[in-house]
Amino acid sequence: MWLMSNVEYAALTTGASVLMRDGFGLKVLQCQGNRIVKLFRTKRLLSTSVVYPYSLRFTRNAKRLNRMGVPSVEVERTFYCHAIRRHGVIYPMLEGEALVAILANGEANDDLMEKLAGFIAQLHKQKIYFRSLHLGNVLLLPDGRLGLIDVADLSFNWLPLSMWQRRRNFRHLLRVSQHRQLIERFGIERFIECYLDAAGISCGEKSRFLSRLVTAPT
Ligand SMILES: Nc1ncnc2c1ncn2[C@@H]1O[C@H](COP(=O)(O)OP(=O)(O)OP(=O)(O)O)[C@@H](O)[C@H]1O
Ligand SMILES: [Mg+2]
Repeated sequence: MWLMSNVEYAALTTGASVLMRDGFGLKVLQCQGNRIVKLFRTKRLLSTSVVYPYSLRFTRNAKRLNRMGVPSVEVERTFYCHAIRRHGVIYPMLEGEALVAILANGEANDDLMEKLAGFIAQLHKQKIYFRSLHLGNVLLLPDGRLGLIDVADLSFNWLPLSMWQRRRNFRHLLRVSQHRQLIERFGIERFIECYLDAAGISCGEKSRFLSRLVTAPT
């Protein structure tokens, strides 16, 4: 990991545009040469991220996803910058458009919704549990495939995903209200049925899956 000085950080980020910030400061920057700098803060002192920073998890996950045939970013460097007290990763921008941007365009996009349902089923088949699943973190790539960004919070399970985990993953997707509304235009039940078909889940499980997803707390 690169121990980045204040001067190096300034050189890297001069002229950058801010893609994401929150109450604690900058989160994602777009720098020269279409490089993305994503910053991670250690949320608590007693946290696993002290010994295993999110930047390293992000890098490991992105590599493994690409190896498994799921397009994701290719991290060039990880760093820690003491001056801003942040871990970070640097990667070239993944060419493509976030699904939230495409769907918010207004037109119905049934093909894309079906593709997304199939993509989630494929992730689950590969025992990949992506906790940050939402329409801003999935991109449509120029070759028509879907790819993932923001992959720090993701696990590769040993065992097949349980029905509970699958439902929970859909709750992640539906909890952002803007995203939920976009999915509602296609139909939430219809979307989940596409997923269940693609995942090869039996008819008996289907109605249970749907009713529990609707009734259980998020
Ligand atoms: N590799 C990339 N290719 C294209 N755009 C990117 C890439 N990485 C980040 N972005 C853009 O920056 C935005 C924020 O990035 P990212 O999702 O990694 O940050 P975040 O702060 O964790 O977001 P959130 O908490 O909303 O999921 C994305 O929604 C996307 O528009
Ligand atoms: Mg994101």
